[in-house]
Amino acid sequence: MRRYLVDYNESFVIDQNFDVAIIGAGIAGLYTALMLPKDLKIVILSKKDIEDCDSYLAQGGIAASIKNDNRELHVKDTINAGCYVNDLDAVNVLINESQEAIDSLVELGVDFDRDSLGNFYRSLEGNHSMPRILHVHGDSTGKGIMDILIKNVKEASNITVITDIFAMDVVDSEKIYKGITAYHNDKFFYFNTKFCVVASGGIGQLFSKTTNVDILTGDGIAMALRAGVNLDNMEYIQFHPTAFYSKDVKDKLFLISEAVRGEGAVLRNINEERFMGEYDNRMELAPRDIVARAIKDQMDKTKTDYVYLDVTMYDKNFLKRRFNTIYSECKSQGIEMNKDYIPVTPAAHYFMGGIKVDLYGRTNIENFYAVGECACTGVHGANRLASNSLMEALVFGKRAAVDISCRMKQKKYLDYEDMNKIGIKTLFNGFKTEHMKIDFSVLKENLKNFMEDTAGIVRSVDKLKKVLDYINNVLYEIENCNFSDIYSMEVYNMYQVSGAIVTSILDSKASIGSNYVEEYSERSLVRQI
Ligand code: SIN
Repeated sequence: MRRYLVDYNESFVIDQNFDVAIIGAGIAGLYTALMLPKDLKIVILSKKDIEDCDSYLAQGGIAASIKNDNRELHVKDTINAGCYVNDLDAVNVLINESQEAIDSLVELGVDFDRDSLGNFYRSLEGNHSMPRILHVHGDSTGKGIMDILIKNVKEASNITVITDIFAMDVVDSEKIYKGITAYHNDKFFYFNTKFCVVASGGIGQLFSKTTNVDILTGDGIAMALRAGVNLDNMEYIQFHPTAFYSKDVKDKLFLISEAVRGEGAVLRNINEERFMGEYDNRMELAPRDIVARAIKDQMDKTKTDYVYLDVTMYDKNFLKRRFNTIYSECKSQGIEMNKDYIPVTPAAHYFMGGIKVDLYGRTNIENFYAVGECACTGVHGANRLASNSLMEALVFGKRAAVDISCRMKQKKYLDYEDMNKIGIKTLFNGFKTEHMKIDFSVLKENLKNFMEDTAGIVRSVDKLKKVLDYINNVLYEIENCNFSDIYSMEVYNMYQVSGAIVTSILDSKASIGSNYVEEYSERSLVRQI
């Protein structure tokens, strides 16, 4: 059902100062802004502070085929992890353009870790047949890249960043983009820009256990859905096998990078037995969906909520140097990595589906683009190869910027218009708090628990059907009342995106990679390399 959260009306502040609006300030959003021509005026809308994003937390690194690397092998690893349902053109673009993206980051000032000869250090993660993961300051890759992008964005006179702003809806007419609505400082805004790029990140917060920051509630995807933008691969959600287990339910769980297993850490059940050999001969470095399912199986068999990650074969100095962030966090939780096993549990981590885009980030609404985790190029197939995501944000962010620049030159956009002449329907008259019957915080909690239970690592048709009925009932209820604040709009977004995910799982009819449905037969694929 199409329904705008907020349509333009005369009480809006109309902003016609910018050519391009970018929704989201992670690596995809910032890098796209920097790749756009300097004579375009760009506004970046960030839901919270610019550092409050998953990109900032990225630990393991960025997978790249550089210099004389065997690119075909990187393609092979990517599609093998993705269960051979990846978009092959997108995979080739990703890998062929990875060297250029690394060069560009170095030029912007990113200081990748290097050996004494100046060569990049490269590490190994699951399902990579050779070490090809570049990192910054050991396990602080995201921060290392983000700090440099933020510095460059602050220095760019054509880029404005607005923080604490909630983007609400796309305004379009006959599938041509016209602008977006947003809420900031108690005012409603209409940004009448020529182009929009959604870079709003993932959906981890739809689940009760996630590594994603608290703002990642799928707002950009919900906005696109309401505008009739096509979505794709909504059933493919990656669970990272090793988030730090904590008894208290937290907004987000601390990630123990796959790079730790890349260095040789092993998984043990609570009886301290190594178990991955029962599931896959690549052991701890099998693709993530396989490792996450094996851990779940062990947790079920031993009736516990966690297993252990054992990296005690290394000494303290090595661990502190290589995994400084993880070492400090474990220590603060009373775990000495060189002596103690780390309790870990799988958690929702990355969305392979999202807004359907082509190789230039274009959606089915003209001049409305999506890049990064909220976008679905099909590059990751049914399970993303570790550390391919930061590279995807860079490569396809640059491509979207190139396309926008061409369209700008060819004047393929709508000029700023007098909004009163456009005749957009008005459904919204501001927030209303009186007669509120719905407790949105209870709705949010319920949804996260239901999604964890039914749309997680192992799914079942009966439960999914019940959850879909529940989601549809809640959506109906919300649509028949007034929004009281941004929080209620966010919860509405979460229900809309969850509804699309559950529908997609039920429609999928086969278990592939991260979409493992008990009743559906598994597509028999040889995934061993
Ligand atoms: C990790 O360091 O394990 C996460 C990197 C990724 O998600 O690819």
